[in-house]
Amino acid sequence: MQTIAITGANRGIGHATAALLASQGHRVILVCRDRNRGHDALASLDPLPNRARHHLVVADLASLDSVREGAREILDLDYPLAALVNNAAVLPAKRTLSRDGFEIQLAVTHMGHFLLTHLLMPLLERHEETSRVVTVSSGAHVGPPLDFEDLNFEVRPYKRTRAYQQSKLANVLFTFALARRTADTNVEAVALHPGVYDTGLLRDYMSAVPGSGAVASVFAGNAGKAAPILAGLAAGRRDEKLSGAYLNKAVVDTPSRAAREREAQERLWEWSTSAVGLSADGAGRMAGEG
Ligand SMILES: NC(=O)c1ccc[n+]([C@@H]2O[C@H](COP(=O)([O-])OP(=O)(O)OC[C@H]3O[C@@H](n4cnc5c(N)ncnc54)[C@H](OP(=O)(O)O)[C@@H]3O)[C@@H](O)[C@H]2O)c1
Repeated sequence: MQTIAITGANRGIGHATAALLASQGHRVILVCRDRNRGHDALASLDPLPNRARHHLVVADLASLDSVREGAREILDLDYPLAALVNNAAVLPAKRTLSRDGFEIQLAVTHMGHFLLTHLLMPLLERHEETSRVVTVSSGAHVGPPLDFEDLNFEVRPYKRTRAYQQSKLANVLFTFALARRTADTNVEAVALHPGVYDTGLLRDYMSAVPGSGAVASVFAGNAGKAAPILAGLAAGRRDEKLSGAYLNKAVVDTPSRAAREREAQERLWEWSTSAVGLSADGAGRMAGEG
């Protein structure tokens, strides 16, 4: 039995992955922002008594304090982690700020996961074999470089698909910078485009592209079809070295030019370290850092 923590695990791809991992006999830590939705998801995983091995941790990735509290709970559970699956994302129609004042897609999709990964690194490093940080990006990361001058869409007009592209690009930039920092450890960092599935998020995305909703529902698969891909990365495929890889479904692929820019990867790392408050207290230092 391995232990896997998954954010946004109460519905969509995250929930389907949690359910598959549970059915394979693994222990799942569901990281969800809403206690009731999280409880419902937990209750659907396994019948008792097996269900008792799983855990719900309530954490809102749009709040750095909440991420810290959630991480503390997971650290207290004290299971070495085979994987952390950074899966949660949002796609609001109107520009929204997180509790800490950042554009919410960047906050949830990148910053919350950046901080959570830092804080859970001791549990990933304690896993006896390879452990993985699987960050769910998207093929929609392809597009312009990250706009470091206007990360919060204060100057640019907010478009939800553009903010999504930028946050999903941040997922890949983060993964490559993390892979460099964990190169001498047992921790691998992988970014993933999971495929296209009929979920709440896809419907939100398609509603921003007039006339595409019907097309999406025809072509998109059921979220359950994503589960073997994510579960395979989280708990299997240990005979492959995948650190620093971007995968399109199960296959290693080349991400966009903007995602491969080392300078942008390092700039985002430095910006994020400061923005989530890690440089101030020095806590949660990533392996390989001073
Ligand atoms: N569906 C696709 O076709 C597709 C394609 C490419 C990539 N992806 C990626 O796959 C991942 C999962 O997406 P999905 O399609 O499964 O979407 P989904 O069904 O909308 O699920 C999103 C999950 O994220 C959670 N979440 C949102 N804001 C949160 C916050 N502040 N704190 C904690 N959790 C939060 C949601 O919780 P609530 O239920 O409480 O809102 C939900 O559990 C995302 O990273 C997405 O970008 C999806």
